[in-house]
Amino acid sequence: MQRDLDPGHILQVGLGFFAAKALQSAVELELHTVLGAGGMTGPQLGDRLGLHPRGLFDFLDALVALRLLARDGDGPHAVYRNTPETAAFLDKASPRYLGGIFEMASARLYPFWGHLTRALRTGLPQNELREGGPGLFEVIYADEAKLEQFLRGMQGIQLGNFQALADRFDFGRYRTFCDVGGGNGTLAAVVARRHPGVACKTFDLPVVAPVARRHVAAWDADRVEVLEGDFFRDPLPAADVIAMGNILHDWDEQQKLALLRKARAALPPGGVFIAIENVIDDARRENAFGLLMSLNMLIELPGGFDYTGAQFHGWARAAGFQRTEVMPLTGPTSAAIAYA
Ligand SMILES: C[S@@+](CC[C@H](N)C(=O)[O-])C[C@H]1O[C@@H](n2cnc3c(N)ncnc32)[C@H](O)[C@@H]1O
Repeated sequence: MQRDLDPGHILQVGLGFFAAKALQSAVELELHTVLGAGGMTGPQLGDRLGLHPRGLFDFLDALVALRLLARDGDGPHAVYRNTPETAAFLDKASPRYLGGIFEMASARLYPFWGHLTRALRTGLPQNELREGGPGLFEVIYADEAKLEQFLRGMQGIQLGNFQALADRFDFGRYRTFCDVGGGNGTLAAVVARRHPGVACKTFDLPVVAPVARRHVAAWDADRVEVLEGDFFRDPLPAADVIAMGNILHDWDEQQKLALLRKARAALPPGGVFIAIENVIDDARRENAFGLLMSLNMLIELPGGFDYTGAQFHGWARAAGFQRTEVMPLTGPTSAAIAYA
């Protein structure tokens, strides 16, 4: 028996949900939002959030040890406060609030991932669809508050990627841009602000349009046009650059190809298609988040999966594009770019 082997990594991953749930509960309780007004002691936080004394200090100090909370001093009089990161990403008052995704993870994804083994055995979604209920998008669209929460969660995940794309991709060479499946319009607003010479549109289902109009008005009132339509039924709006953020991974291979063909048809010669996703490395060894996101598509959707740059290249060529490249954005996310 080899005695020097360390089980630490296996334990950390196998019990990773301890830490994930601690953070999700903090978000549900709005802990970091409450601390946005200033530091508080444990008992003050307990009163304010309605927490029982038994778990209070273990909860708060676990978050300190996970670097998801700061603490001045030790003992019962110590003062808890936000770290610079939790103030930026977990306080609801911050425009960079990421918590929507953890609210959704806690309410939906966490219970559904409890059925991962069954999903692996059957190849079938394990969300509301399992009980014969409506699909992911129908569930989200049924309630405007849920829809806004979902779109805000997407925004929190994607904002850094959208900003990186607006900085790194040479939008200045083009006159028109359309984000297809653009959700609340964040990418179109980011590009409009960064590249005033580019006319920007965002396109999504009619049910999403009122949320997008409100959001875009708050960001960049007159420069982003909000268009309504169905990307499977309707032609895509013509533009020099067409983007799809976290769209292709929702669909099966034939649907992915159909969307790429539609994008190609809506682009002029020299036009560009950009997918912003967790593009998996070609050898499928490195991008653990992209691979796990693909399992999340197994849980959530009948045919969705994430893909490598090489797969994207094959589909883009089949749809009539000349060449492709993969541009890393932030963390596990890249832009897969196809040139017409
Ligand atoms: C996962 S979200 C991605 C939102 C955003 N592009 C991003 O990167 O965060 C998928 C988006 O596709 C939109 N969508 C789904 N089916 C659609 C359809 N048939 N036509 C147009 N938009 C659709 C949804 O409303 C939603 O806004």
